[in-house]
Amino acid sequence: MMKKTNLNCGENNTEKNNQTSSVKTPEVQALYRIAQLVGSAAELEVTLSEILKILHDTLFMERASIVLLDEAGENLTIKACYGLTNEERKRGVYNLDEGVIGKVYSSKSPFVVPDIKSEPLFLNRTQARSISKGNIAFIGVPILLRNKPVGVFTVDRLFASEVSYTEDVHFITVVSTLIAQFIELNKVIKQKEDVWLEENRNLRAQLDKRYSRHNIIGQSKVMREVFQLIDRVAPSTATALLLGESGTGKELVAQAIHHSGPRIKAPFIQLNCAAVPETLIESELLGHEKGAFTGATFMKKGRFELANGGTLFLDEIGELPLNLQAKLLRVLQEKNFERLGGTETISVDVRIIAATNINLEEAVAQGLFRADLYYRLNVLPILLPPLRDRVEDIPLLLDFFLRESNERNGKIMQFSRDAVEFLKGYIWPGNVREMQNLVERMVIITDHEICRVSDLPSVMIAEPERPAIQELPHPVNISIKEDSPETPVNSKSSLKDREKEIVEAAMQRNGWVQARAARELGITQRQIGYKIKKYGIIMPEHICIKND
Ligand SMILES: Nc1ncnc2c1ncn2[C@@H]1O[C@H](COP(=O)(O)OP(=O)(O)OP(=O)(O)O)[C@@H](O)[C@H]1O
Ligand SMILES: [Mg+2]
Repeated sequence: MMKKTNLNCGENNTEKNNQTSSVKTPEVQALYRIAQLVGSAAELEVTLSEILKILHDTLFMERASIVLLDEAGENLTIKACYGLTNEERKRGVYNLDEGVIGKVYSSKSPFVVPDIKSEPLFLNRTQARSISKGNIAFIGVPILLRNKPVGVFTVDRLFASEVSYTEDVHFITVVSTLIAQFIELNKVIKQKEDVWLEENRNLRAQLDKRYSRHNIIGQSKVMREVFQLIDRVAPSTATALLLGESGTGKELVAQAIHHSGPRIKAPFIQLNCAAVPETLIESELLGHEKGAFTGATFMKKGRFELANGGTLFLDEIGELPLNLQAKLLRVLQEKNFERLGGTETISVDVRIIAATNINLEEAVAQGLFRADLYYRLNVLPILLPPLRDRVEDIPLLLDFFLRESNERNGKIMQFSRDAVEFLKGYIWPGNVREMQNLVERMVIITDHEICRVSDLPSVMIAEPERPAIQELPHPVNISIKEDSPETPVNSKSSLKDREKEIVEAAMQRNGWVQARAARELGITQRQIGYKIKKYGIIMPEHICIKND
């Protein structure tokens, strides 16, 4: 393995270090890659196994294992190995003074067995070395932490009689030092993580009491203002208009207003103006008499009537067609109406809460939304800030959704501190809904207790740095402030690119069917159509679409 090596372990050759990428020897290459792994500070056993794999790939070792002192300090057990089956690995448990491993451990010195057949100390405990196959040499070096042994690093190689093992021992000792550093680093991180997990548990215990109002999580200044507004508007019957990007919690706030007001016992009825076909919206709102139109085989009450005495939540009000806007305005002003095909005037007492994620002022300016209806609705506006503008709420929300998802899935996953820091800097184009979905996904797919940055979906990790945008001029869906002078010049890709990528990826995932992609992103067909045009997103020619 090391026959032609010129590695001098004590040498401090800067020129050589600087040239690691144009590398000469496989040993230097291996050390370079191992040092990178050590710096990444990932899971102990995963990293140790990767170190052994690197040694195998670059240096053609037969077999190797890292044997560490167990937590009780009683035995040495194999923590990582290469070239051993699971069965062989399980057999690898040694007393502290047993065999060659015990000797290396207790003497704190390397031990070379040039031919294991003729070494009485050699236990072959794992039974991995079928001695009859050939002559095998064994090298074991101690893993020392501040000169105290914590384990043994062993390597097997095929026997070659003319070889001196000194270079091998030097090299393996260097690797063993790196392994020791990694073990120490890992211990510190683990201790910190334990403290962090404990803090998390305490935080969670307080979550319900301190940071949640009306089932809405938040302690940021902007969310506290939202809570105050909810309290202020709840007792009145005036129309509330909820504004904010998709997934910011508009529906949740609508329910909170209803449930904390005097109408709590009366119905909360909802109509999503974007989800109902245009031709049916009017009869959904006002109801119809039997025979009012083809297919109207019975009388049906509309949402206004159903909500009598309670609240009618008109979601995605910006999608209401112009002719229906006029009709809605009339009902809001007169507080009465006739069912379709009917003559009886029905009076109702309904509190209206409307919501939209589009910029209604802009829609008014473009003639897409009636100005008189806008002013009628905009009596008590509440703006739900995007998640990126309430970073301090992110850990609370993560905890809240973690608890729910863990419970639902019978798991105990937690995010590492770095993962939480990363998620605090993420831009969250889909806001709280995106976070809720992410947490559920990570809880389901992560098979270890701690979810680290490296476990997060790669599309999130490729996300550019948080932009320097604190305030958006208007609430818009997956909103991006274009050509903002504050956008960092050096970010890997602009926010505009990011939005284009999100829309394009959703289109691909949904077979280029706009309606489905829009549903997935929580935006309307009209909005996705606009974005597709804006970014010049083109469907690949070989695809044939069937729109829903
Ligand atoms: N502050 C919050 N605390 C806890 N859960 C929240 C919060 N904000 C939003 N959510 C959750 O996130 C999801 C999306 O929220 P919601 O449906 O109210 O958003 P929205 O603003 O109505 O979105 P859209 O415009 O796409 O309809 C819901 O499951 C909601 O319960
Ligand atoms: Mg909604």
